[in-house]
This record gives sequence, structure tokens and C-alpha cells, in this order.
Amino acid sequence: MKIAILPGDGIGPEIMAEAVKVLNVLDLSFETETAPVGGAAYEAAGHPLPESTLNLAKAADAILFGAVGDWKYDTLDRPLRPEQAILGLRKHLGLFANFRPAICYEQLTHASSLKPELVAGLDILIIRELTGDIYFGQPRGRRTAVDGHFPGAEEAFDTMRYSRPEIERIAHVAFQAARKRSKKVTSVDKANVLETFQFWKDIVTEVHQQYPDVELQHMYVDNAAMQLVKAPKAFDVVVTGNMFGDILSDEAAMLTGSIGMLPSASLDKANKGLYEPSHGSAPDIAGKGVANPLATILSVAMMLRYSLNQPEAAARIESAVQAVLSAGLRTGDIWSEGMQKVGTAAMGDAVVAAITCKTIPTITKS
Ligand code: IPM
Ligand code: MG
Repeated sequence: MKIAILPGDGIGPEIMAEAVKVLNVLDLSFETETAPVGGAAYEAAGHPLPESTLNLAKAADAILFGAVGDWKYDTLDRPLRPEQAILGLRKHLGLFANFRPAICYEQLTHASSLKPELVAGLDILIIRELTGDIYFGQPRGRRTAVDGHFPGAEEAFDTMRYSRPEIERIAHVAFQAARKRSKKVTSVDKANVLETFQFWKDIVTEVHQQYPDVELQHMYVDNAAMQLVKAPKAFDVVVTGNMFGDILSDEAAMLTGSIGMLPSASLDKANKGLYEPSHGSAPDIAGKGVANPLATILSVAMMLRYSLNQPEAAARIESAVQAVLSAGLRTGDIWSEGMQKVGTAAMGDAVVAAITCKTIPTITKS
């Protein structure tokens, strides 16, 4: 097994260091190779996704990705911006199925901005289509308007589009995932306004014929955004397009207490995957040793389960994370009164201790 490690920018290297610590105590045989990506790669090689990094990602059995981006690159030409690295990896590796589970751990019920009773026991799986939609649709650009409200004015445009096979394959992924859970899928669209999402709804309905044991519900995206904060536990599997999935998954993250807790998996048709925390590079706290490494550590667990066929090792990580939370350890983002505030490395060390059955180190309150 070869795992490509792409730490990236901002807090990426700090959280990745903890994930690698955890990976190394599992007694598995694998090889790792680290490469720069995002702003770090732009600095090192003049491109956010250098050929050598892309080739490593292609050759590896799985990819562990930190985060990319920093405000200081916002003025670069778009193809050179750090975000292009993750978009390029998704596209070149065909990682069309993005799993973003939003689980509210019992220990963190009070860290959510919603009332505890609304989120206690929450376990949603957002399945976001990841290689289509307005993110990748061509044409896009700037031009002089020939029609519209201001003919002759400068304008910008993007293209929202989905082909039948793209919708079919993500619908199958969602229905199959639902079969392993509570057999309920909510497909989120904007069919009342957009042609692309009327097509989405029609095709999801068609594919559903092959899964009569699964319940399918359609919901407009604006209503879905509202229901997610009104009654989040009414959802189980949510399937949606690239852009709606981007937005709804950040919203769902907050239900769980912190986006710092959310892992994700982006899979191709053969279940090869890229694993990354759902949060970004958080340049404001980079280098301070305060970032929450649990989303990345839990992404390692997803990698072991989905791509590397090591469900037992995955479960060991997940129970270790539960154990450190039960022991009261919290990074700043999930901290509440009476808990022990710890930094990035101490949190990683505690997970390692829990895996290796050592006592979780007690840290003086700060
Ligand atoms: C995400 C991120 C990315 C996206 C950015 C960094 C390009 O927000 O993974 O959700 O929009 O997909
Ligand atoms: Mg996002």
C-alpha cells in the first residue's frame, strides 16, 4: 500500500503531522510519500499542482490531503491559485463521489450552535457530486454582454451543467449508501428554477426505480438549508450537486459542534480515494498549534475503511477519538466550560495513547 501525503497550506502541515502519527501506530505495512500541494507547491515549483505531485497521487493507493489556500494568493491568476490543486486532483483522478458524514458525538452535543436536543445523536451523510456542475462547466469567463439588462456592459458567466451518466452514477452511490444505513435518501435540487436540476430530479427519480426498498424524497435547496437547522435529524443520506453540496456540507458541519470534526472521502469509480478534512486551511490560526486535528485523523479512518480494506484499524481510530473526547480533551473550536483545552499536538498524542492503550495524558487546564 502506498499513501500519498499532501499537507498543503495553513494548518494543513500541523494537522497532517498528527494524522501521520496516528497512522504510524497502527501496525500496518504501508509506504508513504509526501509532496507539496497548493500555495506550498506554488512557492516550491511555481504551480499549485505540479506534475510530480499529480503523478504521485495517481500512483498511490490512497491520498491523504490537508488543506490549501491563503489570502495572499487571492490576486494570482486563477490557474495558479491554491484551490486549483484540489479541483485539479478531483478532476484528473475522477473523484466524483464525495462523502461528508456529519456526526454529532454525544460528548460534543453542547458545542453545537443549535439546541442540544436538535443535534443529539445526529448522523447525516452528505453525498456531494464532485466533478461536475457549475464548478467545472464550460464555457466560463468574462466578456461584453450582447443582451440581458445591460447590453454592452462587462459581464462574467459560468455554466451549470450535468450529463445523464454523471447524475446516474452519483444517484447509484447514494442509493447504495442508503441501503447500508436507514434506507432514506433526500435529493436536493432547484428544479423549480434551473433546467440542470429539473434534469437531476428526473434522473434521480428514474434511478430510484432500481431501489424500491429505499425511500426517496426531493427537496429544493433553499428549503434543505432551512430544514437542516430546523430538524436536522430528519435527514439521513442527502445527495446533491457540487455547488449545493459545498454549501450544505459546511452548514451541516456546524450542527456537529465544529467543522474541525468532519472528515471526508472523495472516491472514483473503483473506490480509490482522496481523504481530507472538510475544513479549509484556516490561515488565521496557522502555525499556532491550536487547530483541531480530529477531522484529519478521522479522515485516516475513512481511508482505511473505504480504500485500504482495513475496517478494524479504522474502528480503532474512531474509538480512540471517542475516548479522548470522553476524557474531556478539547481543542479551542470544541472547548466548553469544565473541559481541558489542548493544542494540536497534544490532541494527536492523546489519540495515539488511546490507540496504544496507554492512559490518555492528563494535561493541566489552561
Ligand atoms: C470544499 C472546499 C473547496 C470546494 C474549495 C477549497 C475549492 O470549499 O472542499 O468544500 O469549494 O469544493
Ligand atoms: Mg467547501
